[in-house]
Amino acid sequence: MRSEIKVGLQPKYAEVEAPFAIERALVGEHPAIVKLRALVERVAPTEVTVLITGESGTGKEVVAQAIHSLSPRCNQPFVPVNCAAIPHDLLESEMFGHERGAFTGAAGSRHGLLTTADRGTIFLDEIGEMPGALQAKLLRVLEDGAVRPVGADRATRVNVRVIAASNVDLGAAVAKGTFREDLFYRLQVVPIVIAPVCERRSDIPLLTEHFLEQIRDRTPGREIAISREAMVAMWSYDWPGNVRELENMVERLAIMCEGSIVDTSILPENMVASARPATPPIAVKLKDGGLNLNNLVRELEGRLINDALKQTGGNKQAAARLLGLKRTTFSAKLRRCGVIAPASLDESEED
Ligand SMILES: Nc1ncnc2c1ncn2[C@@H]1O[C@H](COP(=O)(O)OP(=O)(O)O)[C@@H](O)[C@H]1O
Ligand SMILES: [Mg+2]
Repeated sequence: MRSEIKVGLQPKYAEVEAPFAIERALVGEHPAIVKLRALVERVAPTEVTVLITGESGTGKEVVAQAIHSLSPRCNQPFVPVNCAAIPHDLLESEMFGHERGAFTGAAGSRHGLLTTADRGTIFLDEIGEMPGALQAKLLRVLEDGAVRPVGADRATRVNVRVIAASNVDLGAAVAKGTFREDLFYRLQVVPIVIAPVCERRSDIPLLTEHFLEQIRDRTPGREIAISREAMVAMWSYDWPGNVRELENMVERLAIMCEGSIVDTSILPENMVASARPATPPIAVKLKDGGLNLNNLVRELEGRLINDALKQTGGNKQAAARLLGLKRTTFSAKLRRCGVIAPASLDESEED
């Protein structure tokens, strides 16, 4: 079990050169991500406890590591603990350590991960899975740094910063009675919520390019890019596994791609299908009295441009790509249709 626990100094980002560059770890230009980076930079130098909430794969661990790396504790251990991956009856001794003979099989005494993290940061992932008794013990750690190993009569003190994460709404768990209310408030001194990828679609091309760049770095001489059609399909897809799914998909596409351009033929069918409208966008019947085709086309164009801007949080380049247009053509149409002032949309958080 212990082998599953990752312990060490910034294990994932060891290759990122000092000083730690948050823009490289937490890629994105969507307003939600810009705000997230600013929040991380603000809380990092403090000692506050942080509760990160977001669907699986949205970057909770990236955020936790960024906070640690930008904090005065950056040269001390960062210790991630996945509360859902460790059986409940082992979690206490893993975290708090145990005395010799504390339970069957406890041949010697052993330090827990809280002690390993002393002077550094402990990252308690999926904290909603922590059993009630342990929640009470964790509250003591947060209150006065007291750590009492299993089977010990006395507590020792540690100096750890706690960052917790959950992919479920802990507030709801409190309401249901499965998570301690006092611990919940103590943890979320600063709550950080990470939006799922489908709420920040305008970052999909940027994230894709970031992962492609990593592949190019790893395999010198490798040329690889994504076709416009494939990008539109990736854009329209909902990415339930979020950035993790996107990262794995880029990896897979790079393996499957025979030339240097990824096109829709190697995308999964459900992704290509999601890019195709289920029903024709308009159904107009030509009546006896005829119609004004120019007005109709302009209206449809305006509506779709508007939708594309909304969907991309006002990012014109992204909106153009979504409609399969060059940015210049898109801008010309935008001016012609007089769709909502794009400058104000660029600031918008709407997606
Ligand atoms: N904004 C981002 N920029 C670059 N990579 C990201 C970003 N968000 C997540 N990732 C990458 O996606 C994967 C999943 O992130 P992780 O932090 O483990 O998600 P979570 O803990 O929420 O499940 C990791 O490989 C991580 O490096
Ligand atoms: Mg995680």
